Amino acid sequence: MKVILYMAISLNGMIAKSDDDTSWISKEEWDSYSLAVRTAGNLIVGHRTYGILTKQPEFSEFKDLKLVVVAQEDFQTLAQNHLVAHSPKEALKLLGNFEQVVVAGGGALNASFVEENLVDEIFIDVEPIVLGKGIPLFRDKDFAKNLKLLGQKKITDNEIQLHYEVLK
Ligand SMILES: NC(=O)c1ccc[n+]([C@@H]2O[C@H](COP(=O)([O-])OP(=O)(O)OC[C@H]3O[C@@H](n4cnc5c(N)ncnc54)[C@H](OP(=O)(O)O)[C@@H]3O)[C@@H](O)[C@H]2O)c1
Repeated sequence: MKVILYMAISLNGMIAKSDDDTSWISKEEWDSYSLAVRTAGNLIVGHRTYGILTKQPEFSEFKDLKLVVVAQEDFQTLAQNHLVAHSPKEALKLLGNFEQVVVAGGGALNASFVEENLVDEIFIDVEPIVLGKGIPLFRDKDFAKNLKLLGQKKITDNEIQLHYEVLK
């Protein structure tokens, strides 16, 4: 199973403003992310991201996915195909039949997955914006992982996608 982390960031590594605003992320970025998620057929998110993402109209594109929410406690999800896991490893176990798994935020969940060495590849879409304050790509954990650049491409004239392998 290949585990992919897929995120949009500001140039200075923020994934949302402090008030969770992500309206600065482009439509083209959403389409690229959505395609990656629908191709994998699954998505893993943290509890806070689940609450935010499921309120977005575009979430309807994901109605057939197997979605795993990582949270410390059980809670009632919004659909039968939305499962709760209590750790990153448990989330991966629930998706054991998939060839490829997409992990997509937020900063707390990303940090847990990378710290535990569970991520194989990272796709980062760099939005043309800098944010003075916000939620970072990796939150509240102290680690260092070396990466190998596998590719880069332009999503729009103003936005670049970086693709890395996490060296283990
Ligand atoms: N730019 C992008 O591409 C992108 C993508 C996704 C999200 N976002 C943004 O990211 C922000 C949310 O990020 P966030 O860091 O605040 O929250 P988050 O990572 O989405 O969720 C944090 C919560 O998830 C659960 N969790 C995370 N790691 C866990 C672990 N190892 N074990 C058990 N539970 C775990 C905990 O839930 P409990 O406390 O309930 O136990 C934790 O409080 C939002 O603003 C969202 O819009 C941006």
